[in-house]
Order: sequence, then structure tokens, then C-alpha cells
Amino acid sequence: MPRSARPVAEIETALLREFLAVGDGCVSGAHLAQVVGLSRVAVWGHLHRLEAEGFAFEPVHSRGYRLTAHPAAPSVALIRALLPAGAPPLVYLDSVDSTNDEAGRQLATGRPAPFVVLAAGQTLGRGRFGRVWHSPAAGNLYLSFAFRPELPPERVSLFTLWMGLNLCELLAAETGAAPQLKWPNDLHFGPRKVAGMLTEARIDADQTRELVFGLGLNVATPDSAWPHDLAARATTLAREAGRTLDLNAVAAKVVACVFASAERFFARLPDTEIAKLWRRHDLLAGKTISVRQGSETHNGTARGIDGDGSLLLRTAAGRTLHLRAGEVTLRTS
Ligand code: BTN
Repeated sequence: MPRSARPVAEIETALLREFLAVGDGCVSGAHLAQVVGLSRVAVWGHLHRLEAEGFAFEPVHSRGYRLTAHPAAPSVALIRALLPAGAPPLVYLDSVDSTNDEAGRQLATGRPAPFVVLAAGQTLGRGRFGRVWHSPAAGNLYLSFAFRPELPPERVSLFTLWMGLNLCELLAAETGAAPQLKWPNDLHFGPRKVAGMLTEARIDADQTRELVFGLGLNVATPDSAWPHDLAARATTLAREAGRTLDLNAVAAKVVACVFASAERFFARLPDTEIAKLWRRHDLLAGKTISVRQGSETHNGTARGIDGDGSLLLRTAAGRTLHLRAGEVTLRTS
């Protein structure tokens, strides 16, 4: 493609990368023009467009421009610029029914995977058991990662747990607090949920053909954006960190973390690491719980997971159940 026919977002990502590379420093107009293969006037046009999105560029006499502010709202150009070069494509939407559905639709059109769909808000966000995932466009991230993995179907549950554990590590580094994974798909800080994961797979002839890993992460939702009952049970990363967080920076870190973790999982590297991370982040360890599976409920003590990611539940009768799925409730006794 001739350089001038490059999509606007790609040009603006390339420009922002130059600014990010120098931090508080200056970048000359001539350098920017050379990087994107456009005239300085055209570059200035792109900087103006970015200013309308919330970026600010300060001209520095005879030296060029300095980036002095960036938007708080999601900016696809900025997220891409913050990602490592060569990261898989990112599709950004202000609003969508469900990012998992959008990723599935894009896979169905034959779009090459991996890629990620990120939305600022969802109108039909879904959780496990077909529940509604409340998805206001208010400081949260809604992400779905699409893969065409070579993965035996029995490893899909472990994939979700591995993602959750790696995300716990990332969220611990971001907040300085101690996130935990509540088997099988919730990320918590203490009793409050900060994120939910929803993995959906298309399995065919005993192979996982397509895998969509959905993640809803509360970054900085104001309490007023949640229904009353959720406000008491949910938390945000900003609240746990005790400071304002940059939504775009968090988005880029989450995207990089998920792609890197998925790559390691598909290469079959992490089995021993799963056990190690599980001990660090297991919210249920040793707790008295109930696990509902359809019309059945099992009671007992949580004893970690087995090699397939099934929950080990020690019953009062001394049996150890391996539960592949279910809904966990913590009991007080
Ligand atoms: C749960 O806790 O039950 C899982 C919630 C998963 C929500 C995410 S938000 C992004 C993706 N799109 C959806 O419709 N659901 C997942």
C-alpha cells in the first residue's frame, strides 16, 4: 500500500509511538514526517485530529513538539502505540452488543486470528450462565481475544484459569494489592469482584477450532454507574490502587499480558507454573464452600485444582470430588 494510503489510525499510532519513545522530550516535525512518509503539513493535520481526541502537543521553538496530555477515554491509537511492536490487531468499538459476539462474528468471516476486540461499552454484555454483564461506558474495559488454537478441548478450562492467574499477577503489580482468582472465572480483591472472564470455544472433530476469551474489567467505574446491588459487591482497580489509573495504559498492559500468556499456554509451557500461581492467588483455598451444578449442590472444603483445572472439593464424608464446572458460594461455617 502506498504510504499515503495507510489508514489514519495506523499513521497516528506511528506518530504517538515517536512521542512515547522520548517521554517528556521533543520530536521534530521533520522526523515525524519522515517516519510516516508524509509532508509536515499532513503530519500537523494528524496532530490536530489527535488534539480533538484529547491529546495536547506543545510546540517547542525550533525543536518540534512535545506530548503534554493524552485522553482519559479509550484511544485506539494510543493503546496500539503502547503495545509492543508486532502485537496482534486490535479492533476498537465505542459500543457493541457483546465483544465476545463481535469476535465470534469476525472469526466467522475468516478474519485471521489472533486479534482482540475492545469496546468502551456493551449493550448486551454476557456473563456465565447467560447472565447480564452490566457494561456501562464509564471507565471499564470490555475485551474479547480471538484465537484459532491447536488445543484439546479438555484444556479449555485450564486456559481460563491460566489467564486469570496471569491477570492476577498483572493487577497485583498495577495496584500493589492482592487480587485472587475465585474458581473458575472471577477476579476478586477480597470479597469484591473486579473482573469476570467468559471463555467460549467452537469445538469440532475433537479439536478446539476457535476460542474467544472475554474479559470485563472494572478500571475506574464510578459507583453511580452500577445498580445498587452491584455497587456493594464490585470494586475497581483504581479503588484498590488508591489512585487514578490511566485507562489506555491499563488496556495496553492487559492486552499484552493476555496475548503473551496465551502464546505460552498454546506452546504447552506453563503446567508447573499454574500450580505455583494457583497457590499464590487461590481465593477458595481451605474455605468451606457450596458448588451448584444444575440441580445438584455439593458442600465441602476447597482443596485447590487438579491438572485439568477441575476444582477439588473435600466432602464431610472424606471424598474428594473433581468438579469441572459449577457456581461457588462461600459459606460461613
Ligand atoms: C462472568 O463473570 O460471568 C463473566 C463476565 C464476562 C464479561 C465479559 S465483558 C467482555 C466480554 N463480552 C461479553 O459479553 N462478556 C465478556
